[in-house]
Amino acid sequence: MTPPTSERHDEVILVSNRGPVTFDIDADGHPTTIRGGGGLVTALSGLVDLTPVVWISAAISDEDARMQAEAGNTAISLPDQRGTTAGRFVVIDPTVYDQYYNIIANPMLWFIQHYLWNLSQAPDIRRGELDAWEHGYQVANAQFADVVSQELARRPDAIVMLHDYHLYTAPGIIRAAHPDAFLHFFVHIPWSQPDYWRVLPNHIREAILEGLLANDIIAFHTSRYARNFLLCCEDHLGLRVDYERRLVHWHGRDVWVRSYPISVNAPAFEAIAQSPEVAEEEGAILRRRRTHLVVRVDRADLSKNAIRGFQAFDVFLDRYPEFLEEITFLALIQPSRQDVPEYVDYLAKIKETVSRINTKHGNTDWMPIDLRIESNMARAVAAYKHYDVLMVNAIYDGMNLVAKEGPLMNERDGVMILSENTGAHEELGSFAVSVNPFDIEHQAEALYEALTMPANERQERLLHIKRIVHENDIEKWITAQRTDITEKRAHDSARG
Ligand code: G6P
Repeated sequence: MTPPTSERHDEVILVSNRGPVTFDIDADGHPTTIRGGGGLVTALSGLVDLTPVVWISAAISDEDARMQAEAGNTAISLPDQRGTTAGRFVVIDPTVYDQYYNIIANPMLWFIQHYLWNLSQAPDIRRGELDAWEHGYQVANAQFADVVSQELARRPDAIVMLHDYHLYTAPGIIRAAHPDAFLHFFVHIPWSQPDYWRVLPNHIREAILEGLLANDIIAFHTSRYARNFLLCCEDHLGLRVDYERRLVHWHGRDVWVRSYPISVNAPAFEAIAQSPEVAEEEGAILRRRRTHLVVRVDRADLSKNAIRGFQAFDVFLDRYPEFLEEITFLALIQPSRQDVPEYVDYLAKIKETVSRINTKHGNTDWMPIDLRIESNMARAVAAYKHYDVLMVNAIYDGMNLVAKEGPLMNERDGVMILSENTGAHEELGSFAVSVNPFDIEHQAEALYEALTMPANERQERLLHIKRIVHENDIEKWITAQRTDITEKRAHDSARG
């Protein structure tokens, strides 16, 4: 095989369920665009800045589907920060999409990978789930694979970079059609230990592992998840795994399993922090703040553990009454995945817990927890700037970018309480107050420790975190992956 030219190697076919924008028609009949939410889209946009890309994602709105139908099998222009990106929407039948997204991806896989199932009660694997796998997840993955194949036929030397748990079986289909393609897969959420995967019937878990092994490189945020994946290959597929070189031999190819901690775009965040919208929100926060401000910023996801965080605050107020009326817990919670019943229940429980605690400790003048259920970036950045304590107590979390964004923006020598089960803990744990996310007592004490920490120690810890976030920024995340891709290609062509 002749090695392709390095220029061609720069082309990337990016694939993720959610794309950078969704098209819509507003009330006056004018076309509008809505930016894709979440850290994933933000991080991948960094990749778009560096390389020519075609970005394949699911059509979320009718307008996305209509535009793609008009374009046929060609790319359309997606407006983004740098101008436009070529994009293709995969138009999936709504019933299929519901099975793929609302039954299999969220919650089934998301819950397995964050250890969220309460196994004595759920999940039940019945006809509905098996059908959703076969006629939803597999079908959607085959559709994604088909569009990738069309793009690969146009640019066979491009690197295909697939992202996340929605797309585990697509690589196997792509590999069958393009044996020489370079496939790279990033899993942005934790990879749980082998026994927890036994929740899934054999054929499903094998299809997931085999689908992933069709890639050349499988990437995770931390070495712990990469290791769990290798253990799964050994336990569930009986493969011989090389833990030292972090590879598995599969169907005549070496598959590399690597970790690259994702980060944030520090300069972009710093620019947002200077915007007038943020300044306005800061004014409001400063006018309302008491002596101490605790902040959390999360999606209303079960994995984020908001309820135990509030319960810890309740215990803290019981135990340290000197803080009554002197402290506010500002919780900015974005609604998420409200088509999944578990998420609807969870959001309702968050509201109940907060109102119980506010009734118990608050008075007409002071509300201990200020809960905002909304998505407001400017307010989140303003809160990051002014917290004394940032609470990140996730049950399990692939990385948790709040743990990076918050300290990066903070101007008050704020202390971060950080769950030992977040990916961010591998890099930042030594400079945060580490907590066990299930241990409410521990979290209550962590609040006290953070709020009473000597000023010089607070300052030192924050400076260390800022330095790490600046050093390991999003560019480093991308460059490290590109370096390994180049190395792996050289390794494969040397083997012939
Ligand atoms: C979070 C996770 C990502 C995931 C995304 C999906 O941001 O960290 O790994 O891809 O959620 O969210 P969505 O809103 O598209 O279901």
